[in-house]
Amino acid sequence: MCAWARACVCSAAASPRSRPGCRSAASAASSRIWPGGSTAAIACRPNIDQRAARDTAETLTITDNRTGKQYEISIKECAIRATDLRQIKAGPEDGGLMTYDPAFLNTAACRSAITYINGDKGILWYRGYPIEQLAEHCNYLEVAYLILFGELPTEPQLTKWTDNITQHTLLHENVKKLMEGFQYDAHPMGIFISTVGALSTLYRDAKQVFDQESRNRQCTRLIAKVASIAGYAYRHSIGRNYIYPDNDLSFTGNFLNMLFKMTELKYQPNPVLERALDVLFILHADHEQNCSTTVMRNIGSSHVDPYSAIAGAAAALWGPLHGGANEAVLRMLEAIGSKQNVPAFIKRVKAGDGRLMGFGHRVYKSYDPRAKIIKRVADQVFEVTGRNPLLDIALELERIALEDEYFITRKLYPNVDFYSGLIYQAMGFPKDFFPVMFAIPRTAGWFAQWEEMLLDAEQKIARPRQIYVGPRRRDFVAREQRK
Ligand code: ACO
Repeated sequence: MCAWARACVCSAAASPRSRPGCRSAASAASSRIWPGGSTAAIACRPNIDQRAARDTAETLTITDNRTGKQYEISIKECAIRATDLRQIKAGPEDGGLMTYDPAFLNTAACRSAITYINGDKGILWYRGYPIEQLAEHCNYLEVAYLILFGELPTEPQLTKWTDNITQHTLLHENVKKLMEGFQYDAHPMGIFISTVGALSTLYRDAKQVFDQESRNRQCTRLIAKVASIAGYAYRHSIGRNYIYPDNDLSFTGNFLNMLFKMTELKYQPNPVLERALDVLFILHADHEQNCSTTVMRNIGSSHVDPYSAIAGAAAALWGPLHGGANEAVLRMLEAIGSKQNVPAFIKRVKAGDGRLMGFGHRVYKSYDPRAKIIKRVADQVFEVTGRNPLLDIALELERIALEDEYFITRKLYPNVDFYSGLIYQAMGFPKDFFPVMFAIPRTAGWFAQWEEMLLDAEQKIARPRQIYVGPRRRDFVAREQRK
């Protein structure tokens, strides 16, 4: 029941609060207007509506054993409102009961219509479409459109969207100059984060976050320019000239061009690699309320421009426990060195000496559906590039881990990052570039989630509570009297 209730975001009544340019969470989440396109709207499933209606009648009775008082709290969409607990007080001085949930293990901070995950069953949908079907039939820009606007584009909509993105791939020459200032061996993700943040100084209209036309402009710019920034960051890190975008190529074909073009007049991407990149970008485009998306929403809740918010989200992505894991996996595989060393490595991990990078997930407690697709893509890529010798170590790690009590009881399975780095390496991307490869497509998800948050009349500036555990009030002690 909860799974369906959580998937349902379009059935509840509109929020009583509203502000100019805002719609209810439900309508904002399910529709977005694109110039020249239609308003995409998600139709409610009847069974979800029925489920939501039932939810509104459900309650939770709480007895406060401190006072003996009983409270009836309403349950909606399988959740109680944390603010409903504030009425529960032990006495007049009491500020009311709070929930304590470090790292948000069991707290929903929003209602969202974008991505649905069932971690026990290994299910991932964007706007209701299973990831497997999207990865098989779509290209990245088509999926970005779906994530951003709620529906798959028609042929004319896709053509217009692709043209729009293509027209925005060029970077201002000042951005190029800014990037030239980075140290020759600067980490490309550091360059990426700084440069995306710097775009806010160029596009001053981005501050108008409640102006839909402005948001649409920033959206197109961001989706297009993150790939160019990534391309320039790579070329800078290897000391080669920047390659201007080639608008005749597809999004991923042009990306390969900006990275790998040498002296040839026209770069021709390998179609297998171009398609593999599309699939990888689709798989990474959104993943509901993960660490970086939460950062995006939290920064955005102060109504700052989206470039600043995406710089923050990308910084969160960089960490080795999140999108930086793909780089960490490769370093781990190289450190293990050979298949024979795998059992000893697993033993060390089980003893608490490090983690098996690319394994485990906060939400997936079965095989990450993206990892399954990536394994298939790896085979296709290796046919072109030759087999990555580290693959044998990865397969052996997976084989042993999946049979080992430690990993079984903790429900630790390969996640999206376990095999993606192997593909990126085989395609010629350096290890420290892997997190950038993650950030390019995730920009679509971050933007969609940011906009959904902005248009949700229930959202306010993010500001969690705390349980204060510091010293009680005490008087100042002069410096010479301190012990
Ligand atoms: N290797 C070994 N043990 C692990 C691993 C791992 N990769 N992941 C979790 N565990 C163990 C923990 O030690 C803990 O054991 P304990 O109960 O004996 O203390 C238990 O499993 C639960 O782990 P938590 O850290 O509480 O799980 P959490 O949900 O907080 O962490 C995370 C999820 C960060 C992804 C974790 O599994 C991890 O560090 N994985 C490796 C890094 C990685 O691959 N990150 C990419 C995730 S996908 C993405 O962000 C795109």
